[in-house]
Amino acid sequence: MTRIAYVNGRYVPHGQAAVHIEDRGYQFADGVYEVIAIHQGNMVDEKGHLDRLDHSLGELQIAWPMSRQSLQVVMREMILRNRITNGMIYFQISRGVATRNHAFPDDTESALVMTVRHSPPLDQTAAAVTGVNVITIPDIRWARRDIKSISLLPNVLGKQQASEAGAYEAWMIDGDGNITEGTSSNAWIVNKDGDLITRDASHAILNGITRLAVLDLARAEGVTFVERPFDVAEAKDAREAFVTSTTSLVKPVVRIDGDPVGNGGIGMLTAKILSFYTDHMKAQGSAV
Ligand code: PDD
Repeated sequence: MTRIAYVNGRYVPHGQAAVHIEDRGYQFADGVYEVIAIHQGNMVDEKGHLDRLDHSLGELQIAWPMSRQSLQVVMREMILRNRITNGMIYFQISRGVATRNHAFPDDTESALVMTVRHSPPLDQTAAAVTGVNVITIPDIRWARRDIKSISLLPNVLGKQQASEAGAYEAWMIDGDGNITEGTSSNAWIVNKDGDLITRDASHAILNGITRLAVLDLARAEGVTFVERPFDVAEAKDAREAFVTSTTSLVKPVVRIDGDPVGNGGIGMLTAKILSFYTDHMKAQGSAV
């Protein structure tokens, strides 16, 4: 079956999909993106992702390339054409194609590209849920991390550093010594009192859609949580830790900079939250 990509109004074979060399996304990273999980043919938290897209576009004064409803049609069409049951949808919107000049061009239409890919079905068995290691690194990103910009160099360098250290993720530390988030995920700890802690949403972090879903689930299930900054010492002293993202779901963290978190195993509250989250995924109903 030919894999299909979407490029500015056309469904094209993936291998032939291309953008113009003067696309501002290509030249300036002048664009935004979203990644949405597909579970059993349904998009997970589609509304949250589109609301965040609206925020990212608005903050950068990039026009929607089409209406929200039309974008939803294209996403469904891509899932159907690529016969995806479980996987990911990726799309990015740039300010468009124009002669290279830093200031915004006049009369340029935003450019939209989209790809989808398969991933293995959700597996929540004990053997499938493993704990991961994280390292800590300085956060060298810009001051508007709430915008899901395609400009990801610090994240790329951070993830590479993690990978070279044999770790799954790097947690980034701001100028005050507090952890902001991972290079492609949000950071969470459970302290000795059993309180769930994650950094509050601000310009300092990307407000993850998985993060928001976990907070809603915690609220519904009566789990006490606090949204506030925490530093590396507090994280290392925590009883449990985990990361959340569209691609990682809820992933237990068992070591930080080589030091075991709690007893070095998967935390009880973490396991519970993972189970709430997988139920949340299964309950998605935006049928294609
Ligand atoms: N990354 N923080 C950062 C810096 C991220 O890049 C991401 C997601 C998250 C979690 O957001 P969400 O729960 O909405 O996926 C937090 C995506 C998955 C990526 O770049 O592939």
